[in-house]
Amino acid sequence: MTAAGPAAPAGPGSAAGRVVLVTGGSRGIGAACAAWFARHGDRVAATTRGPADALRPPAGVPEERFLPITCDVTDPVEVEAAFGAVEERWGPVEVLVANAGITKDMLVVRMGEDAWHDVIETNLTGAFRVAKRAVSKMLRLHRGRIVFVSSVGAFVGLPGQANYAASKAGLVGMARALAREVASRQITVNVVAPGVVETDMTGALGEARVAELVGMVPLGRAGSPEDVAAAVGFLASDAAAYISGVVLPVDGGLGMGL
Ligand SMILES: NC(=O)c1ccc[n+]([C@@H]2O[C@H](COP(=O)([O-])OP(=O)(O)OC[C@H]3O[C@@H](n4cnc5c(N)ncnc54)[C@H](OP(=O)(O)O)[C@@H]3O)[C@@H](O)[C@H]2O)c1
Repeated sequence: MTAAGPAAPAGPGSAAGRVVLVTGGSRGIGAACAAWFARHGDRVAATTRGPADALRPPAGVPEERFLPITCDVTDPVEVEAAFGAVEERWGPVEVLVANAGITKDMLVVRMGEDAWHDVIETNLTGAFRVAKRAVSKMLRLHRGRIVFVSSVGAFVGLPGQANYAASKAGLVGMARALAREVASRQITVNVVAPGVVETDMTGALGEARVAELVGMVPLGRAGSPEDVAAAVGFLASDAAAYISGVVLPVDGGLGMGL
């Protein structure tokens, strides 16, 4: 904070770039999103549950345009502190990518309430928490972009993923309701639905299962985190100013028709 108070918002088209917050920006899809925005001239805050100083700016991005923050989205106090840190450094968040997510796969008959609760709390309630906080300032700015990272799993409903599918389908309903609530202020709210993307999350499934899933992808390969980041970047761009409430699959055709 300066003597004059928190940083003023830079405004659209500002040379300083927009203020972007990516939850779960430490690795996988979130890290690729953080890199995408930073390389397109924005200032990017990326969160991790671990120590913030373990996160380094994406290659080629100067330190002053990257803000690593420790934040567990299941903790309302940490979420508030994360937004406070961004606002103190750069001003209000103009683009939110609600990406943080986990899996705790098991068949419903074996699924304890803890595995249900943890996944819903991180993937759905955590996304609600950060979106609510971001929107409170975007309403005053009369602009903003929110992108939720859902999954093709929301629509397919793979066995073992009742908790995950529920959380990711929940994001779609939440996004559409929120999109209508904030549209008059020129804030858009959209969803990307990745398919099989090469990250730690898919790595945990094992090579054989990943190969089986990739075998069902019409484009014949797994997606990269960068494939998803490009779609997120588009939905947050000026080119997507008239797009709100959509679900954009980024899945090589895997979920086509669902
Ligand atoms: N990979 C896929 O095939 C795929 C497909 C469809 C959708 N998705 C979705 O894409 C998103 C990113 O997945 P990914 O594949 O990149 O996973 P990943 O490599 O496992 O990364 C998960 C990210 O989420 C963060 N995270 C987890 N729990 C958190 C919490 N409670 N609070 C804050 N951050 C938390 C992690 O941060 P730290 O560990 O650093 O704290 C990490 O940055 C998830 O929402 C996932 O469901 C992935």
